Amino acid sequence: METGSHSSGQAPEYRILFNNPCLVGHELTYIADAILRGHSAGNGIYTKRCQQFLEDKLGSPKVLLTTSCTDALELTALLLDIQPGDEVLLPSFTFVSTANAFVLRGAVPVFVDIRPDTLNLNVDLLTDVITPRTKAVIPVHYAGVGCEMDRICSLARRHSIAVVEDNAQGLFGRYRNQFLGTFGSLATLSFHETKNVTCGEGGALVVNDPAFIERGEILREKGTNRSRFDRGQVDKYTWVDLGSSFLPSDILAAFLLAQLERYDYIRAKRQQIWKTYFDQLKGWAEEHHVQLPHVPSDCEHSYHMFYVIMPSPELRDAMIQHLKRCGIMAVFHYVPLHLSQMGQRLAPNTCCPVTVRASSCLLRLPFYNDLSESQQAEVLEAIQRFDTWDDYQIPHRAGMAGMAR
Ligand SMILES: Cc1ncc(COP(=O)(O)O)c(C=O)c1O
Repeated sequence: METGSHSSGQAPEYRILFNNPCLVGHELTYIADAILRGHSAGNGIYTKRCQQFLEDKLGSPKVLLTTSCTDALELTALLLDIQPGDEVLLPSFTFVSTANAFVLRGAVPVFVDIRPDTLNLNVDLLTDVITPRTKAVIPVHYAGVGCEMDRICSLARRHSIAVVEDNAQGLFGRYRNQFLGTFGSLATLSFHETKNVTCGEGGALVVNDPAFIERGEILREKGTNRSRFDRGQVDKYTWVDLGSSFLPSDILAAFLLAQLERYDYIRAKRQQIWKTYFDQLKGWAEEHHVQLPHVPSDCEHSYHMFYVIMPSPELRDAMIQHLKRCGIMAVFHYVPLHLSQMGQRLAPNTCCPVTVRASSCLLRLPFYNDLSESQQAEVLEAIQRFDTWDDYQIPHRAGMAGMAR
């Protein structure tokens, strides 16, 4: 599970919110147009234009908009025909949906620890947990920084297991010059209000293996072959497979298209905010043994979030409280899935020390497209005013970078 930020319960006592979605272009005009066209259900022109935009940009053969990344993940579990007892490998440091989508089909989640620098799946640990029951590995590109996809894909090929990228946070980030979400046979995107590009609630399934396209369309359309009917390929549509209602309204797609069209603007704004945080906090972080995000040289990230990892859980909590007193909302992130009630039941005896430490020491700073320079300066100034370091014992060699991979 995660924290405080996923819902919009952002309390009024904050002057600077953690997230504050904004309009960036023609959202209101497109939404009105979608309604006035008389086609506000799914698969209208805005749905098709969003899908086309993403297909063109990513170079993927098919993108299917969904009502959320959660739904797109559920579609991947159906497409891979996950059966009870199948095992899926995933980080414990992720959102609950990465696991739940597969658990819904009866799969057993196998939680793997993360690297201390990027907080992405530690590929060195994967081989030891692969068994004959392993069906899929689900790398999560944390903060939109790419996992080591070359190593993950070659391991998966060797063991005949599927790769599904949970790319909820990494739209248009790249690993070795290739877009995230184009390595696995399937990948998922989120357009939730906390993401770089949003329509409130939304997501997409990116289909990179064309063998999944037709069934993907059927599963998204309640198990019917309605997409073939809409293309005039059959003269009536009927129930042909499992499925559910994963198709978003064209009103949401209209909102999304307006945001996608302004992606370059969004990216430039977020890049500026991210770089300012990084440059302004570098010296402070070194002085106080605080870890800043690490972006490997072969990754171009999506500028999705800015986090700091404090030297201890007590200091993390104290910093959140300090910022709150300054009217600034900073939030922690995922609580390790292997320690959750469900995690303990489904995967007892799991050990992920790097995840536990990251989860207890990490906090995310306010980050949204129109965070102003003066607001960001206020956040930076408040952080540097935090002066209770000596009230807390700092563990020797604090910081995650000192931990074994
Ligand atoms: C890694 C990851 N996967 C999946 C999701 C679920 O996304 P959605 O809210 O679009 O269902 C999230 C949500 O933040 C996430 O962080």
